[in-house]
Amino acid sequence: MSTSRQFAAEPAGHPTGVAAPGQARAVQRGFWSSLNPRITDWHGLRVWVIGASSGIGEATAAALHAHGAQVLVSARNATSLDAFVKRQSGGEGAQAWPLDVTDAAAVKATAQAILAQGPLDLVLYCAGHYNEMRATEIDMADLKKHLAINYTGVLHVIDAVLPAMTARGAGHLSLISSVAGFRGLPKSLAYGPTKAALTNLAENLYLDLGPLGLGVSVIHPGFVQTPLTAQNDFTMPALITPEQAAKAMIAGWAQGDFDIHFPKRFTRVMKLLRLLPYRAYFPAVRRATGL
Ligand SMILES: NC(=O)c1ccc[n+]([C@@H]2O[C@H](COP(=O)([O-])OP(=O)(O)OC[C@H]3O[C@@H](n4cnc5c(N)ncnc54)[C@H](OP(=O)(O)O)[C@@H]3O)[C@@H](O)[C@H]2O)c1
Repeated sequence: MSTSRQFAAEPAGHPTGVAAPGQARAVQRGFWSSLNPRITDWHGLRVWVIGASSGIGEATAAALHAHGAQVLVSARNATSLDAFVKRQSGGEGAQAWPLDVTDAAAVKATAQAILAQGPLDLVLYCAGHYNEMRATEIDMADLKKHLAINYTGVLHVIDAVLPAMTARGAGHLSLISSVAGFRGLPKSLAYGPTKAALTNLAENLYLDLGPLGLGVSVIHPGFVQTPLTAQNDFTMPALITPEQAAKAMIAGWAQGDFDIHFPKRFTRVMKLLRLLPYRAYFPAVRRATGL
């Protein structure tokens, strides 16, 4: 099992300084360096995908397995995870670890069992929950469910995996946020704030963990055709497949990006909207959505 393969593929000029296991030390990055160690060769790397029973997580786990990674997949639906494992070369290089991210003890126990088998080179948090909600129709239980799955679950995961990753001074943590976290949007009362929090969390993690040699990235997808978006009753602009999302994420990790966003034709517009003053932003969103 390689502990340094992902860093060995670094181009000349990329910051070095990744420490041997158990000897984390500060890494300096120049202005033009990639923000993270690039991951270009997945052979032999161990990847834990949380939220892999469907959609983007499942497609990314399958793509990483096809690129040679050993994939460990988690979600609540054990049947789907088992079926996924069987589809990957009859189970070779894939394992199912069912769990509920809202159960801190289960997350910790699973992480410990996985780490007892070997180090993790990538932990990808894809678990997500989404329902439309407006301030005029608040559903407190569902608000809390968004928070528990989309945000608190990540805290359970980082609490469980970071001690081993920082001790080793290697590995990459990637969190799937959303362009819905950039700014307030209609019907996004429950979902949007959890994604804004996730992006901010990733920025904080980067500042603390980057100097220790770890990679941290935040994923900002636009619309992807998955069970999560199946409820949307409007035409989703620039809609892509989970396979296209997985490809964009793998390209982003290979580039060493911190902010991996796609499809660019949509996310660039969302990034421009983020720059508008409120007096221009609010009317623009109302005009675009009719809400
Ligand atoms: N689709 C989009 O357009 C889009 C856009 C931006 C961001 N995203 C984000 O991308 C991520 C993946 O979403 P998706 O679109 O691929 O939707 P999805 O197919 O519904 O996937 C969501 C995953 O989260 C898992 N999950 C939900 N609650 C869980 C829990 N309590 N414990 C463990 N796993 C749990 C689900 O598995 P189980 O039900 O088996 O637990 C499933 O594997 C989410 O974070 C979502 O917010 C999606």
